[in-house]
Amino acid sequence: MSKPEKSKSKNIYRCQACGHESPKWAGRCPDCGQWNSMAEERRTPRRAPAAFQAPEPLSNVRSAAGDRVSTKIGELDRVLGGGVVMGSVVLVGGDPGIGKSTILLQAASKLPGPVLYLSAEESSEQIKARAERLRIDEGPIMVMPEINLEHALSEAGRLNPSAMIVDSIQTVYTGDLSSAPGSVGQVRESAAKLMRFAKTTGTPVFIVGHVTKEGMIAGPRVLEHIVDTVLYFEGQRGHSFRVLRAVKNRFGSTNEIGVFEMTDAGLKVVENPSELFLAERPMDASGSVVAASMEGTRPLLVELQALVSASTYSVARRSSLGVDFQRVGMILAVLEKVAGLHLAGTDIFLNVVGGLKLEEPAADLAVSAAVVSSLREKPVAPGTFTFGEIGLSGEVRAVSHAEARLKEASKIGLKNAVIPWGNAEKLNGKAYGLRITGVKNVHEAIEALF
Ligand SMILES: Nc1ncnc2c1ncn2[C@@H]1O[C@H](COP(=O)(O)OP(=O)(O)OP(=O)(O)O)[C@@H](O)[C@H]1O
Ligand SMILES: [Mg+2]
Repeated sequence: MSKPEKSKSKNIYRCQACGHESPKWAGRCPDCGQWNSMAEERRTPRRAPAAFQAPEPLSNVRSAAGDRVSTKIGELDRVLGGGVVMGSVVLVGGDPGIGKSTILLQAASKLPGPVLYLSAEESSEQIKARAERLRIDEGPIMVMPEINLEHALSEAGRLNPSAMIVDSIQTVYTGDLSSAPGSVGQVRESAAKLMRFAKTTGTPVFIVGHVTKEGMIAGPRVLEHIVDTVLYFEGQRGHSFRVLRAVKNRFGSTNEIGVFEMTDAGLKVVENPSELFLAERPMDASGSVVAASMEGTRPLLVELQALVSASTYSVARRSSLGVDFQRVGMILAVLEKVAGLHLAGTDIFLNVVGGLKLEEPAADLAVSAAVVSSLREKPVAPGTFTFGEIGLSGEVRAVSHAEARLKEASKIGLKNAVIPWGNAEKLNGKAYGLRITGVKNVHEAIEALF
């Protein structure tokens, strides 16, 4: 954060760490001593506004629940909760080059009426080149290369677009503050202005936010509480698929994900993500297990890998990517204590293939299966998958959505299911063409899997 130019306005500077207010900028907060924490803010007079809205019975308020527009991109609509809500502000965050501009340009071409694309970091020619590469309908897109938000908003008022896209929030600035674009004060004030525009005109606004190196500072995080919906675009380097995840949604579930594949013609919706995530699964390899997980209301089969090897270090290394580290620690302890596995002195690495995250406890059985498989160098029988939560005494507990998981697995051709006894019992003989083994504890699970 560089020292802003001398301010003519009577703005104030507030420490982002302790809230200390100062009329002058300082590199270090004079109160709490934090470096680079002073951000500019507009001084708002504390007078009561002349006009205000009187309270009214909630039953008289018009319902706006149905006011959604479809982006015609199925996976984006799903993550938004069934299309974008009129007058809502959606933040799309993600690493550089992940495809934020691409998906919004693709969505813009499908929306009815003019869509104002405020491009604050790329020229109109660059947007044109992208649109040509994506072979999209350029008809509805009005491109505006501009970094001044007041200019953009006055044009938006004139144009009355069906949606507005701001690419990106870190490169636009409002003349109300003297600090540089991308600073915490600018990012927050600009977002607040866009929010007011969205609410007063009913225009949906999409804001692109870069995840900056500093992460918290001036990145999308400072905006999360201002906007209505926060979507993060995730993906792994070298992989072509991308996952769009809702981390906050005032108008829908936050458990939904959208799966896309990045191609030279843009982002393509992946109709059957399970197939994609299992496509390169090695056959007959130890340490690899298929987990039937749920992402919101959607079942997803993913490959979980473990590598257990004798440690050459005095402190054994344990790492997990995509599964909760604390939970893995607990499962390993159960495997040692209850199943009698010798894991002391071994390095253990766990990885969910494809950069996905398995956050539900239902992944426990797959974690233990992968560890046992790698430790014993014994592959799990082909066509086998598992799900189930493990308790501290080694019992396997039933999980939700068992039937959806089984159906999805059967759809992509898996054959054997090792699942909690509590779930198997409730199936009343329904098998979805699978051989189902219900297990009560980790012993039985290991027995059934190997
Ligand atoms: N000619 C191409 N062929 C295939 N893929 C391409 C091509 N050009 C760009 N891409 C893909 O598009 C990605 C860039 O997409 P996009 O510009 O939408 O990302 P972004 O998230 O907006 O990036 P930034 O942070 O730079 O704004 C590249 O990383 C690449 O994967
Ligand atoms: Mg971009």
